[in-house]
Amino acid sequence: MLPMPIVNLLEAGQELARTGRRVRVLWQHDDTLAFVARGREYRSEFHINPSDETMYMIKGEMRLHYRTPEGNEEIAVIAEGAMIYTPAGIPHSPRFAPDAFALISERKRRPDEIDRFHWYCPKCDTLLHEERFVVDDYRKDPVSAAYARFFECLEFRTCKRCRAVMPAPAAL
Ligand SMILES: [Fe+2]
Repeated sequence: MLPMPIVNLLEAGQELARTGRRVRVLWQHDDTLAFVARGREYRSEFHINPSDETMYMIKGEMRLHYRTPEGNEEIAVIAEGAMIYTPAGIPHSPRFAPDAFALISERKRRPDEIDRFHWYCPKCDTLLHEERFVVDDYRKDPVSAAYARFFECLEFRTCKRCRAVMPAPAAL
């Protein structure tokens, strides 16, 4: 494919901030998929991705919450200009400010692959809800779709064990 795309990452992030959008897909092909994302102030879910993933902080800092195989929540801090490699299957939750921008690189999903989004109880850490998505096109912003389904349903947000409720954000 010629000409090959060249992207100014800082300008791509600034455009998101200016327009209020969250994601700009740079390209998506079978073996490479890249997008610039702006932080989400309300981000609370853990994404389980069937593809390996790298995240590079263009501007600002990311706190990447993730869950170990033992089920513990830990945090990796990724400074501006730094990058992290997240292998497929690790539940992870990228938390960064709306004026911070990250470059995310994955590969396009294969036909039988499913992405999962998990939310945990803020009080007792029990799994609250799982959303499953076939991510065939990142331009559809699957994270926003998962959030809308979760936060619009009080039952999904209510812990079956301790009855605590995850509060809905002021705006999605
Ligand atoms: Fe709970």
